[in-house]
Amino acid sequence: MKKIAVFTSGGDAPGMNACIRAVVRTAIYNNVEVVGIMQGYKGMIEGGDNFVPLNSRSVGNIIQRGGTILKTSRSKEFMTIEGRKKANDNLVANDIKGIICIGGNGTFTGAEIFYNEYGIPSIGAPGTIDNDLYGTDLTIGFDTAINTAVDAIDKIRDTADSHGRIFFVEVMGRDAGFIALAATIAGGAEIVMLPEVKEDYPQIIDFFKFRTISKKSFSIVIVSEGNFEGGAIAIAELLKKEIPGFESRVVILGHIQRGGSPTTFDRVLASKLGYGAVEALLRGEKNKMVGLLNNKIELTTFKDSISNKKELNTDMLKLVDILNV
Ligand code: F6P
Repeated sequence: MKKIAVFTSGGDAPGMNACIRAVVRTAIYNNVEVVGIMQGYKGMIEGGDNFVPLNSRSVGNIIQRGGTILKTSRSKEFMTIEGRKKANDNLVANDIKGIICIGGNGTFTGAEIFYNEYGIPSIGAPGTIDNDLYGTDLTIGFDTAINTAVDAIDKIRDTADSHGRIFFVEVMGRDAGFIALAATIAGGAEIVMLPEVKEDYPQIIDFFKFRTISKKSFSIVIVSEGNFEGGAIAIAELLKKEIPGFESRVVILGHIQRGGSPTTFDRVLASKLGYGAVEALLRGEKNKMVGLLNNKIELTTFKDSISNKKELNTDMLKLVDILNV
């Protein structure tokens, strides 16, 4: 294999640049040329200037930068047969023999379909703040995102304490509660509302109805955006209806969780996985995601990674309760 392509796709995640850097430099170390595809699958379909040759210097001074130098997109056209045909034509025209894709579930679903149609081998590296990928204990960007969330929660805590207020803080995660649970434990929040737990709404009503008993002067509740009853605004409204005189404030952390310089942990993880992805591709592996399982670089088929749900350890909810007595 003499020439490979690398691209980022789906939601950006801090550490994607560190991963691109590791991919490019590992490939060059192995005498393999690398092309960066701008804008993910969209750029693959559009071709032209979106195919950029990369060398060691192209990826200098990016390890500390958030976002992705290759840009990203969520391509609807790649979901069509015509779109994938155009993408394949561009890969063939650029003599690309292997692909490294950095992204999440949607990215690997696309890669799996594409391989079955055109047979160009690809290896994925898990890049998403949501940490919701089966086949890796942690995804690139998760650690930075939870640090950003906890930093914000610490600040909210100051004002909550000063005013004796109740705050509902909404965090990202799509339909997974990994960010919410970690932010709750590290941010010392009292309650968490997770997509994985259906019965948490009655509990929160009880909690606030009898809150005076615990003598806490302020409260922080973390709400995962994919929570069953809705986001933080919906929960605050519902409680207002249930409890007369209930007053609270809502903060939606939103996309700030996706930005910023990656933590040391994310830089190391991204470097290991970028390296591991290229090594796997050059060994002849294909259609697999590289992940970190029990601190070892392991491969999981795209099929398994996409079709299995990574379980959130809801036993940790007991810890949340214990830490808030
Ligand atoms: O998958 C990462 C993520 O940030 C989710 O947590 C969130 O639900 C989604 O992307 C937001 O996507 P967009 O930036 O396209 O609105």
